[in-house]
Amino acid sequence: MNKRINIAIDGPAGAGKSTVAKMVAEEISFIYVDTGAMYRALTWYALQNDCNVDDEPGLVNLLKKTDIQLINQGGVLHIYLNKQDVTEEIRSSEVTGQVSYVAKHGEIRKEMVAKQQQLALAGGTVMDGRDIGTAVLPHAELKIFLTATVEERATRRHEELVSKGIKSDYLSLKKQIAQRDKLDSEREVAPLKKASDAIEIDSTSMTINEVVEAINALIDKGDYNVE
Ligand code: CDP
Ligand code: CDP
Repeated sequence: MNKRINIAIDGPAGAGKSTVAKMVAEEISFIYVDTGAMYRALTWYALQNDCNVDDEPGLVNLLKKTDIQLINQGGVLHIYLNKQDVTEEIRSSEVTGQVSYVAKHGEIRKEMVAKQQQLALAGGTVMDGRDIGTAVLPHAELKIFLTATVEERATRRHEELVSKGIKSDYLSLKKQIAQRDKLDSEREVAPLKKASDAIEIDSTSMTINEVVEAINALIDKGDYNVE
């Protein structure tokens, strides 16, 4: 039997990648791989160890001593760093503010990409990030580039934080997202970019279910192996 496909979902912060990737993966019993969580975990560890985010050799050294695992526990993806559950910690605003500086280093990306490719070797993954369709899985059978306006993405994040009882300021959130978009799109190594063979979905006025349905329709249309 043919190997199961891999599905790549890229796009800017707050476009809905992780939410829809998780749902699509669950429906077809694929493994969801959150590559952003891997960069976030290293960033958290660097902050813990007073390693400057501009210090590429220092970060590489730290990464060598780091075992990052993504484990699905009862439908929730938990992130472990050297066996410590850091699922919550890596979402802090401090990590969010620094992660793009860590992710811009070529040597760090090389290591992360190798780990991510390993996870997708057997097929059967839905992987989300910034460079999945362009660098990590250039041969992924289905590539989605998910977008939404910066205003809509900031509104979504704002509402998400407020619903969790976390204080949030819409304007500074919007500024932070725009800054991260800029850093991620303008870096030299594997910038955030739509792969030439990716299908763009603008989710600005779509619900989560509508986006999931659109991706399911593309899976059906392509008659891909998801069994
Ligand atoms: O969930 P959110 O969109 O806020 O971000 P994320 O997916 O957790 O990714 C956090 C950061 O990691 C991004 O802003 C990028 O700087 C970096 N990243 C990357 O460079 N390449 C990836 N494949 C995934 C994330
Ligand atoms: O992973 P990424 O940063 O691209 O976005 P996300 O974390 O999946 O989604 C950010 C927030 O937007 C979440 O609270 C989602 O529930 C929400 N969302 C939405 O309201 N409508 C969509 N079409 C997609 C996501």
